[in-house]
Amino acid sequence: TATLTVLGIETSCDETAAAVVTGPGDRKILSNTIRSQIDEHTAFGGVVPEIAARAHINILDRIIDEAMQQAGCDWDDIDAVAATAGPGLIGGVIVGFMTAKAIAMAADKPLVGINHLEGHALTARLTDNLEFPFLLLLVSGGHSQFLLVRGVGDYERLGTTIDDAIGEAFDKTAKLLGLPYPGGPHVEKMAKRGDVTRFRLPRPLLDRPGLDMSFAGLKTALRTQAKKLEPIDDQTVADLCAAFQRSVSDVLATRTKSALALFSEKHPDAEPVIVVAGGVAANQEIRESLLSAAQASNARFVAPPMSLCTDNAAMIAWAGIERLQLGPVDDMALSPRPRWPL
Ligand code: KG4
Ligand code: ZN
Repeated sequence: TATLTVLGIETSCDETAAAVVTGPGDRKILSNTIRSQIDEHTAFGGVVPEIAARAHINILDRIIDEAMQQAGCDWDDIDAVAATAGPGLIGGVIVGFMTAKAIAMAADKPLVGINHLEGHALTARLTDNLEFPFLLLLVSGGHSQFLLVRGVGDYERLGTTIDDAIGEAFDKTAKLLGLPYPGGPHVEKMAKRGDVTRFRLPRPLLDRPGLDMSFAGLKTALRTQAKKLEPIDDQTVADLCAAFQRSVSDVLATRTKSALALFSEKHPDAEPVIVVAGGVAANQEIRESLLSAAQASNARFVAPPMSLCTDNAAMIAWAGIERLQLGPVDDMALSPRPRWPL
């Protein structure tokens, strides 16, 4: 197959990103530019959709220019434009997808509308040359799910959170304890000097079979403990963070083992592989418990570099390349979608 050069655009949450990637044979990230909007949202303790959409408008042209320049590409060198068409904060999605549409029309290139989750699901094939099928654990601020990835466009959701996403639970826990947004890294830092034995938080839903997860109750239990000890000192915050992180790690490790068992039942001839993606994959304790869970199941554990685990445009460009392998694509008539299950 011929090598394609694809421009990817990602604007579904609070990062404005553009990238140029080649593939499918020689998989090269020619550029991967990103600008986080964290500073714009910090004061509000979370992402404000309206502010996000406006910030994408302000910066996207420049980010695309940078990506094209760093890649040393002209519009003539580009074979297609791929952009996230959902799911996500719809204002931002519209900014990115319509910009991609305009470029595709002006430069006369095919437009590929990408499901953001598909971008995450296929990233490991860009970084690790992974064969289908494999298991994906997506853990971000908006999603917490196990996906069976059988092929491009062939996904089965095996389990998901029934309430908060894990990143969301980290962020809410941080807020509750007076730590800054986004909470994940701060909770992890505090947990390092916490005593994990002081508090025992629940492992929600683990008494039930299946692969669904729940994290809202964990946060409530933590709030109850914290209330009893008010005003809470630094050590207590650290101890609560440690207990929270341990509970999340335990839930994920237990569910990962069950997911791998289910994978082997469904695909007895395939090598069991678990790939992790999403911002929460940055968490060291969670990574280690996933690795042990994989080892206990004789499975391979694949964690792409963090810059490709969190939201980025290289994964969108790559998903575009994968889509184009299946045949010509023309998504000019596609509408951006706030909700779009795989
Ligand atoms: O994938 P991502 O960058 O954006 C989306 O949500 O799509 O994930 C961001 C989430 C935030 O909720 C953040 O608190 C969490 O990932 N996160 C972490 C860590 N770093 C980021 N959670 C736990 N531990 C971390 N070290
Ligand atoms: Zn994402």
